[in-house]
Amino acid sequence: MNERSRADLKASSPVYTRREVLGRGAGVVSLAVIGCAGKLPPAHEVQAEGGEVAIALADAPEMAQPDGVMTVEVAGVKKPVLVVREGESYEALLLKCTHMGCTPGWNAAERSLDCPCHGSRFDAHGAVLKGPAKAPLAKYAVTADGSTLRFRVG
Ligand code: FES
Repeated sequence: MNERSRADLKASSPVYTRREVLGRGAGVVSLAVIGCAGKLPPAHEVQAEGGEVAIALADAPEMAQPDGVMTVEVAGVKKPVLVVREGESYEALLLKCTHMGCTPGWNAAERSLDCPCHGSRFDAHGAVLKGPAKAPLAKYAVTADGSTLRFRVG
């Protein structure tokens, strides 16, 4: 390459600062991590009358299976809630990572909740499988009467 073509190339090439390069790299890494995270099942939007959430099982066919899960968007609660069934018992987990507050996704293959931000993982009961999170996910006690699931938020 002669001096003229080298000069032409330099003039036509964009110049990035170190910060721009690192910023673009971080964006690519973030997207890669998010792409690997589990997704959440489609959300049911519900109201919380006096803090109590009631979900008719007839409206939640995904809970018919003994290992069913459903996502619930509760009015007034900033993060989604994942209701997890194991046989005849149910738990409702607040999907707010206890590390820095990101929303974990559901990994159906491993029945875990995987946080896309820094890699924390939680089991289907909200217990920490892998840090950096140290505390379990917050959860709400669920009662089931055969036709309705109920839990109280707040
Ligand atoms: S916010 Fe979930 S691992 Fe950091």
